[in-house]
Amino acid sequence: MPLTRIVYCSELTENIGSDEIADILQVSRENNAKQAVSGVLLFNTHYFLQCLEGSRAAVNGIYCRICCDQRHHNAQLLTYGEVSQRLFSAWSMAYVPWTEATRTRIAQYSIGTEFNPYQMSAESVVKLLEELARLLLKDAG
Ligand SMILES: Cc1cc2nc3c(=O)[nH]c(=O)nc-3n(C[C@H](O)[C@H](O)[C@H](O)COP(=O)(O)O)c2cc1C
Repeated sequence: MPLTRIVYCSELTENIGSDEIADILQVSRENNAKQAVSGVLLFNTHYFLQCLEGSRAAVNGIYCRICCDQRHHNAQLLTYGEVSQRLFSAWSMAYVPWTEATRTRIAQYSIGTEFNPYQMSAESVVKLLEELARLLLKDAG
């Protein structure tokens, strides 16, 4: 089965707070681990950016389910394709804390100072994910 990566962005529905985000992360980690899916979820108060990597069937199934979720809307695929290796193999769903270090990295790949994944090129998105994976690995080790 080809290793497949999906990266999409979406907009948070109004009134989605930290409890809902914690719930999304918990359910994602449980479900994704069962299907050998790894990835990362990045968000600020307006936008989500998520990367899912695993078998083609698993990531497509999860993405379809996510698209129906009322906690966000306007999902747009940023990249989709086969990849030779995972970026987030250590995480069923990594969470990127909104620290000075991550904000600086994100700003490097964004247009303007605000994180807005809708304005990012596919190339910038992949570079940002590679950078975040390096940062997470460094923090973990
Ligand atoms: C931004 C966002 C990201 C999500 N990511 C995942 C994910 O990676 N894996 C997952 O199983 N569910 C994820 N969910 C939750 C799903 O939409 C869904 O609620 C969950 O999979 C449970 O589905 P079920 O009620 O059909 O079992 C996410 C939801 C949102 C809003």
